[in-house]
Amino acid sequence: MKNFYWMVLLCLLMVIVSGIIYMHKDQVSLIKIPPKSLAQWYKPENKRQVWLHNMFKLRREMQALRFYSQAKEAKKLQKWLNQFSEHYLKIFEMVPEWNKKLDREALATLQNFAQVSNFQGITKVLDSLDESCKLCHTDYRAITATMYRAPDFSKIEKLSSSASIQEHMKTLIKQINQVKIASEDGMPDHALSSLSDLSKGLELLGESCSGCHKKDRKIYPSDSMSQTLARLKQSIKFGTQKKQGEELGSLAVQACARCHATHRLSADSRKLFLEPQSLSELIRH
Ligand code: HEC
Ligand code: HEC
Ligand code: HEC
Repeated sequence: MKNFYWMVLLCLLMVIVSGIIYMHKDQVSLIKIPPKSLAQWYKPENKRQVWLHNMFKLRREMQALRFYSQAKEAKKLQKWLNQFSEHYLKIFEMVPEWNKKLDREALATLQNFAQVSNFQGITKVLDSLDESCKLCHTDYRAITATMYRAPDFSKIEKLSSSASIQEHMKTLIKQINQVKIASEDGMPDHALSSLSDLSKGLELLGESCSGCHKKDRKIYPSDSMSQTLARLKQSIKFGTQKKQGEELGSLAVQACARCHATHRLSADSRKLFLEPQSLSELIRH
């Protein structure tokens, strides 16, 4: 009898737990994370993006296989098939956890068909291989590119003696808002001194770009940003509030939003995947 009550209690508990999970299903999203062994085929563990380059080869080889099977050229077809086999099998040499995802049967069929010059058969096998490429890509392509190829801003050279990029960003936004508050409240001197601090902060940030953007020309602050800064300064001294607001808005787009659209977006996503929240954090939030 005692056992029976325990069973009922246990079932009830399971129903409640499943109920809670189901109720929150719209608020969480499950994603698959690629196996850790993939990391060795990307920077910083590897000098090159070996995984990605193997993928580019596969796409090219598939294209060649289609081309020569349509042209019915057995010899060239065989050449590309050998390369394709090597690179296809390399997928699971590199990441053994993905062994199950390989379509070895299709590969064997391709080889058989090539030997007997069954060109039509080859085209069909290529179609089904295409599908198997897509299956893995749906799960893992975007997350892999974000985790292993988005630039890592936590490691850029220090922006000043101690500030991290986040601290520097917080200083910049304070300076921008200080310019806005002081100009709106009729304190032009205060606005101008905040603007001059901001200019220095932008120069400092700009020095960090050249590590990756190796151009002769300085990309940040750009010429158009410098012109906007000069116009903003003039309008704080002599212009209307409307004009000041407009110039400050342009500056925020040129100096902040453009870079955020590329770098903050990918830096944030990268963090989301590489430093996922713990279960207890998720529940608390
Ligand atoms: C087991 C998983 C897996 C399989 C199977 C797979 N890929 Fe990929 N592929 C990936 C991942 C992960 C990426 C993302 C790599 C990156 O962006 O750095 C990728 C990226 C690519 C890209 C680059 C896409 C782009 O436009 O940037 C190409 C091309 C590609 N794969 C071709 C193929 C072909 C062709 C096949 C089938 C013959 C294939 N892949 C099978 C995992 C796989
Ligand atoms: C850690 C490396 C890294 C640093 C540091 C870096 N970038 Fe980038 N940036 C990249 C990569 C990689 C791309 C994408 C490829 C490309 O377009 O060169 C990119 C692209 C961009 C783009 C979009 C494409 C374009 O060229 O218009 C902008 C805008 C940009 N970066 C601005 C900046 C600014 C401004 C800084 C400095 C404040 C900076 N980046 C610092 C790596 C970096
Ligand atoms: C390199 C291009 C780049 C430029 C230019 C840039 N930012 Fe950022 N910003 C980033 C990146 C990357 C992050 C995310 C940093 C992180 O969390 O690791 C960020 C984060 C921030 C944050 C959030 C900081 C935090 O964690 O609390 C603020 C606020 C911010 N930026 C303000 C600005 C302002 C204001 C400007 C213009 C004056 C600006 N940024 C220009 C790349 C840039």
